[in-house]
Amino acid sequence: MNQGETGIHDPGTSFRSAGSSISILAIESSCDETSASVCIDGNILSNITANQTVHEQYGGVVPELASRAHIQNIVPVVERALQTANCRLQTINAIAFTQSPGLIGSLLVGSQFAKSLALALDKHLIAVHHMQAHVLANLIDDPKPNFPFLCLTVSGGHTQIVLCESPTRMKVIGETIDDAAGEAFDKSAKLLGLPYPGGPLIDKYAKDGNPVKYKFPEPKIDGLNFSFSGLKTAILYFVRDEKLKNENFVAENINDICASIQSRIISILLNKLKKAADETGIKNICIAGGVSANSGLRSSFEEMGVKEDWKTYIPPFEYCTDNAAMIAITGYYKYLAGIFEDLSVVPFARAPF
Ligand code: KG4
Ligand code: ZN
Repeated sequence: MNQGETGIHDPGTSFRSAGSSISILAIESSCDETSASVCIDGNILSNITANQTVHEQYGGVVPELASRAHIQNIVPVVERALQTANCRLQTINAIAFTQSPGLIGSLLVGSQFAKSLALALDKHLIAVHHMQAHVLANLIDDPKPNFPFLCLTVSGGHTQIVLCESPTRMKVIGETIDDAAGEAFDKSAKLLGLPYPGGPLIDKYAKDGNPVKYKFPEPKIDGLNFSFSGLKTAILYFVRDEKLKNENFVAENINDICASIQSRIISILLNKLKKAADETGIKNICIAGGVSANSGLRSSFEEMGVKEDWKTYIPPFEYCTDNAAMIAITGYYKYLAGIFEDLSVVPFARAPF
């Protein structure tokens, strides 16, 4: 587990001169969404995302196809983000981009584009960690959490509990030792014959299902870490055994199966989040990442917040799944702290906080 502090330095200087506003153009290209956003003084004025449908037929993201689609999408997406914000490139103060983690070819498209713009326009360049940006999506709209806060960040590749002390100081205090929560949703969906990404479909079917109809195991993992691989195996054998008795079992019980799987993923997540809140004594609690779009997780999280006397925060849907607005808000706070990169900066497929 990475328990180190952020690799970035907070020099404590403010780069804001009196009366002037700060405009950030942000680019997100870590996986299969090409997204651009304009943020002025911490307010998001545009957040334009092009989704890539080309992967659907393959049941998962094909990295090379993702890179090519980013190349096609990036200019129109950035142009639309600027138009929607009624903003000209010349008035931008800094270009922020996702540096890591992600698919390296996809990250290269966004980072090279950002570096080229920064060079050509002589603007500041800001590198953003995608998982830190998911956390800071909670700082986009009011009400915003006070520091320190805890954030359960649940995405397709990561599941983390993050202790956030300031926009530039955060550390991972718990994370998955195998699959991410999003993978647990997507792999379960695949076992049920649902198309990729299955998370939103499990959410949809679960709405009409009985969450206590089928019992799936909760793993016993030490500390604040998570594990989802046992759940996947349990679902695999459960579906196989039930199909031997009735080959239409999945189709006939899809709502109850999805509700039961979803309920177990949520209880694994929220039990660890409660443990983290108890151990740290922190009561400002956020969720973030693609899986925080899940309606069952959102409502169970709110219910737990009422029971535990937490102040709870959930980003709006459009800031949960991958988007450039979260890169822009993170870029804004890094700008305030004076954290910039030179043109030698490179992306990384994996990088600790
Ligand atoms: O954060 P994200 O958009 O991309 C990554 O950085 O990974 O998260 C994508 C993940 C996928 O696994 C997708 O199935 C899951 O978020 N997801 C959901 C829902 N919407 C997206 N999972 C469950 N319920 C949803 N409504
Ligand atoms: Zn993400």
